[in-house]
Amino acid sequence: MHSAVIGLGSFLPPRRVTNEELSALLDTSPEWIESRTGIRTRHWATPGTATGDLAAEAGARAVKSGGLSPDDIDLLILATTTPDHPCPATAPDVASRLGLGPVAAYDISAVCSGFLYALATAHAHIVAGQATNVLVVGAETYSTILNPQDRTTRVIFGDGAGALVLTARQDARASRPGTLLATDLGSDGGQKDLIRIPAGGSRRPTTAEDPPEADRYFQMEGRAVFRQAVLRMSESARRVLARTGWITADVDHLVGHQANVRILTALADHLDIPAKRAVINVDRVGNTSAASIPLALAHAAEQGRFAPGDRVLLAAFGGGLTWASVALTWPDITPL
Ligand code: ACO
Repeated sequence: MHSAVIGLGSFLPPRRVTNEELSALLDTSPEWIESRTGIRTRHWATPGTATGDLAAEAGARAVKSGGLSPDDIDLLILATTTPDHPCPATAPDVASRLGLGPVAAYDISAVCSGFLYALATAHAHIVAGQATNVLVVGAETYSTILNPQDRTTRVIFGDGAGALVLTARQDARASRPGTLLATDLGSDGGQKDLIRIPAGGSRRPTTAEDPPEADRYFQMEGRAVFRQAVLRMSESARRVLARTGWITADVDHLVGHQANVRILTALADHLDIPAKRAVINVDRVGNTSAASIPLALAHAAEQGRFAPGDRVLLAAFGGGLTWASVALTWPDITPL
């Protein structure tokens, strides 16, 4: 048994936030933000809109794009760093709202690598014969965990959601559009403090004491994360290429985690893949963490960049530290 992508959907909350708007609130400038990150705009959900709302929109679109009805889905995996509640998981609520019935549904937390962790896990369920059609969603509302005073994080992250439908397939000829060919997952918990929300979990519960205000928000050591991101993504991408039997010259499209345009350029450079083959949408959506890869796929597909059968290399990196890569051939689908 093998797996293949048959549907793709995405959703951005309507509110678009410009660098100019943030520069009026923080000690920063549109020039700094664009030159250091490549980001020009990002979307933020309005108060009251939660991750599950964005996930349900993108999920419904992916199911429709796959030509399926909600009844056909037998497992939902949702990757997010910003669940609707600390307990329970957000996935069962999204499954219920999509009318999937009493299917298995769970969240995966691997920060910006979350979507590729979820995709690899969905693939494993299918290969094990446990599922036929899996809805894999990456959704985030980082605007709810950013420190309003912190210019080093607030300008970088955006909200959004993207989703794929992965289906079981007997025949895995690499040339058959949509086939997922190989995965690679990894982590290094020794560097967990590079990306963190210090308080609010069981190690520093907010009920036991009042932690400093800043420790309730997302924090990141940007410079160290930058170095690790390029190193870990390129190592992981090379492992997945070796498993697929591709060399870097075979890759038609490199879809890296959309954290920073300079990271994406450096990743292409490290892998010896021409920069023009790197998909970039961080300029319009910012870093959307677990939603980043499916949003980049959806936006590139909408622009007509992919042809069925094109060889696509996905690579992500995030808090944990975690990293992940997936190789697939592009399916013959219309994203919604
Ligand atoms: N406006 C103006 N100045 C700023 C801003 C800002 N918004 N943010 C930081 N600065 C300042 C810093 O304070 C620093 O000043 P100093 O030299 O006086 O101390 C200076 O700019 C340089 O700071 P650096 O952090 O070295 O800037 P850098 O060029 O590295 O860019 C950035 C920062 C954009 C965060 C970059 O490091 C980066 O992209 N890192 C990787 C982020 C990433 O990949 N995240 C993915 C994983 S995230 C996840 O898993 C959720």
